[in-house]
Amino acid sequence: MADRFIGTSWKMNLTSTQAAEYCGRLLPLVEDVTDRRLFVLPPFTAIWAVRQKLAGTQIAWGAQHVHPEESGAHTGDVSAPMLADLGCSYVEVGHSERRRDYGETDALVTAQVAAIQRHGMTAMVCVGERERAEIGPVMEGIGRQLSALSGADRSRLIVAYEPVWAIGAGARAADPEWIGWVHQAIEAWFRSSRAGSEADVPIIYGGSVDGASAPAILAQPGVSGLFVGRSALDPEEFARIAHLNPVSAGR
Ligand code: PGA
Repeated sequence: MADRFIGTSWKMNLTSTQAAEYCGRLLPLVEDVTDRRLFVLPPFTAIWAVRQKLAGTQIAWGAQHVHPEESGAHTGDVSAPMLADLGCSYVEVGHSERRRDYGETDALVTAQVAAIQRHGMTAMVCVGERERAEIGPVMEGIGRQLSALSGADRSRLIVAYEPVWAIGAGARAADPEWIGWVHQAIEAWFRSSRAGSEADVPIIYGGSVDGASAPAILAQPGVSGLFVGRSALDPEEFARIAHLNPVSAGR
């Protein structure tokens, strides 16, 4: 099995000074982790500081958003060539907080993914339902979000399944079994949407992951890794999650 992805987005947290301190604390704690693909997605303002700390280590870095155009009159925005020049490996798009706060659409996601991939980076695309529901309607909605990726290069694509109801303070991670069902349904969507022997798209889970919930989620079929939010703001907890192995619930 390919190496698992274990990563975090810091969302709108950590100044560049704090980000450098974070990396300084994290690095010795994960020195021995060589069989996972670790990554951090700082806010734009901290990418440079993170790169200074992480260049030459096994931890990759990236961004949480990108404008789909190359350059031009878009005040306050940041483009894919700017991120590629900073050594970003990954760029996250489609997060439910951006869909909610900025009205971002699946059409925008398609354009962002194209820009990210044109510049040699991997697009990390978040999908997921707003409310708990049965698997049928949930997969209908996720299928619509995945349609935005039908023309994407699958070798530079990661999907993050993030049920909106499981994200953020006060929420709890989805049930491991549910996560396994959805991940397998997403895999099936990719298999049926385009024939041929193309690259498998890793599917990672995000939503209130912590050290306690991680092992059972990792044990689910179709789970290629974890995307950690608030619990990874503590580098020690992130390092702990980075070391965990899958353990089936009930064992
Ligand atoms: P959370 O965030 O772990 O704080 O719930 C997850 C995410 O939004 O990716």
